[in-house]
Amino acid sequence: MKNISGNPFLTNGNDGIFIDSVAFNEIVKRFKTPLLIFLENRIRENIKSFINVFSSEFENFQCFYSFKANFLSEICKIVLSEGIGAEIVGLPELKLALKLGFSSNKIIIGGPYLSKELIELSIKNHVKEIIIYDLDVLKKINSIAKKFDIIQSICIRVNSQKYASKLGIKFNERKLALFKNIIKDYQNIKITSILSHFSTQMNDFRQFRKNIRAVASNLTFLSDHGIVIKDINLGGGFPEATVMPQDQLKHIAKEIKRALREFEVNYRNIYFEPGRYFIGDAGLFISKIVKVCEDRWVILNLGNHICPKFARCSLRFYNASQINEPHKYKTSIAGIIPTDQDILAKDYFFTENLLQGEKVLVTNTGAYCLTFSNRFPYSLPKILLINDTNIRQIFDSEFDKDISLN
Ligand SMILES: Cc1ncc(COP(=O)(O)O)c(C=O)c1O
Repeated sequence: MKNISGNPFLTNGNDGIFIDSVAFNEIVKRFKTPLLIFLENRIRENIKSFINVFSSEFENFQCFYSFKANFLSEICKIVLSEGIGAEIVGLPELKLALKLGFSSNKIIIGGPYLSKELIELSIKNHVKEIIIYDLDVLKKINSIAKKFDIIQSICIRVNSQKYASKLGIKFNERKLALFKNIIKDYQNIKITSILSHFSTQMNDFRQFRKNIRAVASNLTFLSDHGIVIKDINLGGGFPEATVMPQDQLKHIAKEIKRALREFEVNYRNIYFEPGRYFIGDAGLFISKIVKVCEDRWVILNLGNHICPKFARCSLRFYNASQINEPHKYKTSIAGIIPTDQDILAKDYFFTENLLQGEKVLVTNTGAYCLTFSNRFPYSLPKILLINDTNIRQIFDSEFDKDISLN
């Protein structure tokens, strides 16, 4: 049996394609395409692999799943059951995390804009940390914390120095003076951590290294001026687990440790906020070729409205109807949105024969596709959660209407 797309839960053998232990043919008999499928066992395996790797390198390590990667309740419940915390960007996500039962000391909240309602709910629920992207917001946090008679832990997000990044604080003498005054005057906050998140899809250790350098230089600058921060948070940015297999992840973890030593970063706890690594390769679409056009272009019944470029997935395409045929003929794949801009892949290696009605697997679509999906007037695909031989439909637009949080 061979893995498809490097995914052990997606196989092809004598009995055809299997998605975990469910025959592909059974799925396409029962459900119309396009169909979005999540693999529960793959999510669990990815989480375990991440935890194993990082806890064997770092003693005081904690992990917070970045809800924005995939905020479906059923997915977040799996993450919760693996003992992972939550990294949250807004009020709907926070309400969801609390409703699902994430314990508040494993919830961290942060974003470029923190509304009064979000801060209030966070503080009232004693969340572990609020992550700030600028110093101005501390006034609001302090006064709300004062109202609830709480000392709120704060993580400061610093600018990663990635080209043109606008997110996070860029310290200079003026901001340092302001920060010192804030620490002196605001009695209901305490600064506990520093965060830098560099990018998504970081395949190259040099990106991780730049991120560590950003944390290190800010820590040094602050401690030189009497501000000591004990915990560090290096964000997310790990690619799909099939793209970064466990031995490579191990290598990255070791290099991170080495770089922290090299830059002389002293820390008590180290945090990560993976999103894509947990869920990216646990999601796939089954779609259909609706049209074969000239010059080896095919159109799928799937498009950038539900499989958006913005999601930056490592998309792979397989002709499931001819899975045993060589995929070595350049083919371009367009989406169903009536615009020439809806291109899913150009000159992608695919089967020689292309037939209308054939089923196409699009893999690595578990992270950010739903988050960045938009409201083109097609109905949303059904969503299935597969675990071993069990198929559970977790979303049907006919009854559930929408995937949005509120
Ligand atoms: C601050 C922060 N943490 C974590 C993540 C998760 O990133 P990824 O899904 O690439 O691991 C992001 C993604 O943009 C982020 O901005």
